[in-house]
Amino acid sequence: MIKDWFYDKLKADIGIKRFEHSLRVMETSIKLANRYNFSVEKAAIAGLLHDCGKLKGETNLLKVSSDFGIILDSMTKCNSELIHSILGAAIAEKEYGIKDQEILRAIRYHTTGRENMSLLEKIVYIADLIEPGRSFEGVDKLRRLALEDLDKCLLYSLDNTLKFLIEKKKLIHIDSIKARNYLLIQTRTTE
Ligand SMILES: [Fe+2]
Ligand SMILES: [Fe+2]
Repeated sequence: MIKDWFYDKLKADIGIKRFEHSLRVMETSIKLANRYNFSVEKAAIAGLLHDCGKLKGETNLLKVSSDFGIILDSMTKCNSELIHSILGAAIAEKEYGIKDQEILRAIRYHTTGRENMSLLEKIVYIADLIEPGRSFEGVDKLRRLALEDLDKCLLYSLDNTLKFLIEKKKLIHIDSIKARNYLLIQTRTTE
């Protein structure tokens, strides 16, 4: 259950802009949960806390991660975007007292995705991208797809993300490739 102090702590930890983004991701997660008959409460918690590892200011995320006993792979160490989701799952568990593994995994994988994602993982991943504050090319298509077919939406967004990462000569985490391949095989076999 979301406790009142979650909001205060989150705002203090991640700053007002990210906090407001988190509220919008929570609202969008709730909408998707309603659309796909999933627990609104779980979706709300996961959406609200998905970025709780994006600690503001000059916080050294590597140092905080090691304080939490998190062992990061070499690729994740080079990429703070990836660290915040792994750290977020640890903070959600230890500081917010979230025990539900499904919620923790949704936070853990909201940046990369992974093979065979749960419905909640898909909801948070997509809500993060399509919340009303987002504006990028193709976001309207994603918003439409999210309500029509969550897997197609996820596949479309993974394809776009991978293309973007290649164009920008950025590292691609293996979990994103696995997420895409899994969905591609799954959608082909069900068509
Ligand atoms: Fe994030
Ligand atoms: Fe986010």
